[in-house]
Amino acid sequence: MDSLSNPPSFQFPAGFAWGASTSAYQIEGGWDADGKGPSVWDTFCHQGGGRVFQNQTGDVACGSYTQWEDDLKCIKQLGLTHYRFSLSWSRLLPDGTTGFINQKGIAYYNRIIDDLLANGICPLVTLYHFDMPQAVENQGGWRSDKTVEIFNEYARFCFDTFGNKVKFWITINEPHVVAEYGYEQGLIAPGVTDPGIGVYHVGHNMIKAHAKAWHTYHLLFKEKQHGQVSISLDSDWAEPFDPSSVKDQEAVQRYLAFNLGWFAHPVFINGDYPPLMKSQISSKSKQQGFMDSRLPEFTDEEMKMIQGTADFFCLNYYTTRKVKHQDSSHTKPSIKADQDADAIQDPSWPVPGIEWLAVVPWGLRKLLKFIKDTFKDPEIYITENGFAQIDPAPLDDSQRWEYFRQTLSEILKGVHVDAVNLKGYFVWSLLDNFEWHYGYSQRFGLFHVDFENPKLPRTPYRSALEYKKVISQNCL
Ligand code: NOJ
Repeated sequence: MDSLSNPPSFQFPAGFAWGASTSAYQIEGGWDADGKGPSVWDTFCHQGGGRVFQNQTGDVACGSYTQWEDDLKCIKQLGLTHYRFSLSWSRLLPDGTTGFINQKGIAYYNRIIDDLLANGICPLVTLYHFDMPQAVENQGGWRSDKTVEIFNEYARFCFDTFGNKVKFWITINEPHVVAEYGYEQGLIAPGVTDPGIGVYHVGHNMIKAHAKAWHTYHLLFKEKQHGQVSISLDSDWAEPFDPSSVKDQEAVQRYLAFNLGWFAHPVFINGDYPPLMKSQISSKSKQQGFMDSRLPEFTDEEMKMIQGTADFFCLNYYTTRKVKHQDSSHTKPSIKADQDADAIQDPSWPVPGIEWLAVVPWGLRKLLKFIKDTFKDPEIYITENGFAQIDPAPLDDSQRWEYFRQTLSEILKGVHVDAVNLKGYFVWSLLDNFEWHYGYSQRFGLFHVDFENPKLPRTPYRSALEYKKVISQNCL
């Protein structure tokens, strides 16, 4: 079936979760309100230096810390069944540890959770979405093994505090992005550039932190709270640049192993990195004169601890790449060179906003099938998918809705033809918000936010009204 043909049925499965996602730093503002401690994003933005578009910050953002009611109105207007948001770690624990607990932070999130539940909306809560407390970063952040236990303690605190009401937990959002862009390229906070080495240590610690938190939940809370815990993984789909080239086909395998497999293989398969990733990094490290592989190893005990630590699969999908074999033998260590692959955007794919986001709806269907086949047919939630518009964006975003419609149509084929066990779909994002180093120049919202107006009014784009129809009928 080609990607333009109609799906076999326009109906989504009964009980399908219809959601939208946000994250604390991107919407809350109130960066130092009521005792909140700084996070690495507060520091990164306040340092200026042009790393963020026009040196913008999340100091105010959508004002959600004081304007939660406005967000709730948007959520209710859409008729969402689920809402995904993240807790600001340093709003709850200003120095990252339970040494001091900020009651006002607890009250803020209790209100959100209570209001959602009172309106029949299920909360999906992310513990950490890029905004590590600066105090923890000062002690090494993800580069330090100690952070594994600090994160676990934070997770335990959250399960204990909110777990009687929250049944879906996500430990870490997009560890691949944190590692590659936060600690290898330094494009996002904490802005560290440690190519080819630091990036893997950071990933290693995040996997252990996630797994420990999962065990903490299952050991101490699961029996009483009956919830589920997972991790949100981002991945592009990849196609060979030249479909007839075996080298390009192999490069695709490596690209997927380094992007999705890096975290999904240990968690869903066997507690260890994908064999392709291990062999690539090990042989490159040898060539480069390192004594050991730059990819750290898990002990047997750690592998046992990591394997099977997700109760469902959370996928953040945005785009697809054409991947070409590229021999990177004589280059300096980097995660890119380790892959011997070049990832290219096909010029025929539309790029409506942010430059990396080429719209490829059929890529999502293929990725879902790949996840089903590779990671033991898990229950899958698409915890993020969306399209940016460049500021200023028209409220009539018909073209963008067309991308959503095509994407939902591909998802239906995944469900009805490929028998993917898909449980839900979350749009990124409920609101226009602070798009990391792109600042407010990119608008991902279902609701427009007027950042020039101190009241920060929210207005639905046409996509919001269309999405509402799909949700109310559970049908495209
Ligand atoms: C994934 C991230 O989780 C989210 O924070 C970001 O805004 C979107 N991608 C869009 O880039």
